[in-house]
Amino acid sequence: MNPAAWSRKLPQDWYPGTIPSNVSVCETAYLGTSYSFHEYRSGASIGLRLGRGASLDKTVLDVGSNGQVSVGEFAFVSSARIICDSEVEIGDYALIGWNVVIMDSYRVPIDVVMRRHELERSSLHPQRRLEDAGEPRPVQIGRNVWIGFEACILPGVIIGEGAVVGARSVVTENVPPFTVIAGNPARIVRVLDR
Ligand SMILES: CC(C)(COP(=O)(O)OP(=O)(O)OC[C@H]1O[C@@H](n2cnc3c(N)ncnc32)[C@H](O)[C@@H]1OP(=O)(O)O)[C@@H](O)C(=O)NCCC(=O)NCCS
Repeated sequence: MNPAAWSRKLPQDWYPGTIPSNVSVCETAYLGTSYSFHEYRSGASIGLRLGRGASLDKTVLDVGSNGQVSVGEFAFVSSARIICDSEVEIGDYALIGWNVVIMDSYRVPIDVVMRRHELERSSLHPQRRLEDAGEPRPVQIGRNVWIGFEACILPGVIIGEGAVVGARSVVTENVPPFTVIAGNPARIVRVLDR
């Protein structure tokens, strides 16, 4: 679909917003509400792509000026928070549970002096947005991955095809395909039959 056609309101949207022009939604995909874009600032040619049969609802897209998010075919994302300054890719048939956080950038510097500067800088802006946290690291979530509720996926992580992430896990490193991982930090608890 022509992305420009989406610079408009969604039918029966409870939030009085619009869909940005650089959002590409397949005709068979479902986009629940324009509230998802209240933190969206992507200036990329396509900042969000929703594939065939994909669904994205009650999810906050905190996408910076260079951020690009893609949601694959028949993937389902509900009530998540996606923080993206480079690339977040969600594979086909992935299922992302409630309150999952996926981030390719911390937005907050680890160094205390820089963090204080960032807090001072942001205090001058009405929205108090923290932005200076070094280089973002893209996140990839493979096909057929299932992420349980309230899990957190940290910058640079690649989750292999068919992996399952336990509820409330904190995923700090790459996940091999067809494994179940759980805990904080998440560790392999089971290997799945392919
Ligand atoms: C990941 C999950 C699917 C694994 O289920 P399972 O394969 O039946 O795993 P088990 O219950 O046999 O647990 C295997 C081990 O991992 C541990 N474990 C499982 N889930 C865990 C979690 N979320 N956090 C920490 N440890 C966990 C178990 O304690 C067990 O440890 P042990 O071998 O030392 O006894 C399940 O635990 C889970 O988190 N489900 C969440 C579902 C969900 O979020 N649904 C709604 C959103 S779509």
